[in-house]
Formats: sequence, structure tokens, C-alpha cells
Amino acid sequence: MATWSNLNYQNSASPLMEQIIFFHDHTLIILIMITILVAYLMMNLFFNNYINRFLLEGQMIELIWTILPAITLIFIALPSLRLLYLLDELNNPLITLKSIGHQWYWSYEYSDFNNIEFDSYMIQLNNLSNFRLLDVDNRIILPMNNQIRILVTATDVIHSWTIPSLGVKIDANPGRLNQTSFFINRPGIFFGQCSEICGANHSFMPIVVESISMKNFINWINNYSLDDWKQVLVSKPFMV
Ligand code: CUA
Repeated sequence: MATWSNLNYQNSASPLMEQIIFFHDHTLIILIMITILVAYLMMNLFFNNYINRFLLEGQMIELIWTILPAITLIFIALPSLRLLYLLDELNNPLITLKSIGHQWYWSYEYSDFNNIEFDSYMIQLNNLSNFRLLDVDNRIILPMNNQIRILVTATDVIHSWTIPSLGVKIDANPGRLNQTSFFINRPGIFFGQCSEICGANHSFMPIVVESISMKNFINWINNYSLDDWKQVLVSKPFMV
């Protein structure tokens, strides 16, 4: 999760997020090299006393400083396109989770298993045992090391289902069903927030994924009953 003064990406919990971080670092290095070069050239321009009254054009240098940036851009564009298509790929998901955005909470459906469905509301900070503005009463429980498909929609306005550490950010539109997938490669609790300005309580509809082993997930599915779902869902062992 995001901790104080963190200006970088959050640590990845999925292979795609890892790739996004690699791409960010790659692009940032190119950006820093360009910035240093331009800063050096500008320093030289500002602090020299030479004047050439007849300098109007220089075909060769203009050719070079047109082609070089173009080549540099290709080095950013190709990995970017690779990542774009990689993020859109769906590889035989084992589980499908449906998430529905409402003003202002999320609700979830596990249609694969006896139509499990529940609402997920933000909860208050209590005794610093949870995180302010980030924790919910009913978390999404998902098994790690599995390809998971998520179907996203909304009932009222546009929301956005976003979890930075999983590399997922997908809009929830009313009347549309959007699809993406991810693979969680470690256990843990991953926090996200709605990231489409959706009204007064936009900041107060967080998303929490609890990643557990397949054995525990099956156990959770089996013990889930609609009558006492609140009791079953709250899984204390993972609390920090
Ligand atoms: Cu829902 Cu912002």
C-alpha cells in the first residue's frame, strides 16, 4: 500500500505491475538523459560571448537533431505498445469476479460459486488496527497464483476500479461491462480507490483485495453462507 511520502509506484503484487514499473524506470532514465543534455546545451548557450552574424541555417545539424529524437521516441514507443497489448491479454482465467460501482460503494459477485454477492463499504478507523479511508467491511477474497478475470460495471455514474499494486485500473460504466485480468503472485492485502471523479463521496469508496492461498480460498467459498456472511468474511489473521 502507499505509505507516507511515497512518490514512487507501490510495490508490485502481479507480473503486469512489475512490467509497468520496469517501463516507468526505463522511460525515466531516457528522460533524465535528455534533461541533462538539454540543460548542458542551454548553459553553454547562456554563458558564451560568441556571435555569428551570418548563421541562418545548418542543414546537417538540423537533420541530426530531427532524426535523433525520433529514434529516441521509438525506444519508448515500442516497449509502451508491448505493455499496452500485454495488459489487454486474457489468459484462461480460473475465476471471474464481477465488481459493480455504486454511489458510493462497491459491490461484488462471484458468479462461479453459488452466486456469492456482497457490498463493500468503507469503514471507520478503529484503534489504528486498520488504515484510514482505505479499509472496507467486506474485502474481496481471491486466491494467489491464479489468473483472475474481473468484469466491471456501474449502476449510476462512472467509477473506476483501481488497485495500483496489481496494475489494474479500469473504468466502471453504467450500461457497459468492461473486462480485464490480473495475476496475484503473493499473499497480502492490496488497497485501491475509485479513480474516476464520481461525486461527493468519491474518496470514500475504497477497494480491498485479500490475497490468500487456494486452499484457504476454497475453504472460504465452502463456508460462505448468505445468512452469516459478515461473520465469515472478516478474516482477522491478515490484519496488521
Ligand atoms: Cu466512484 Cu470515484
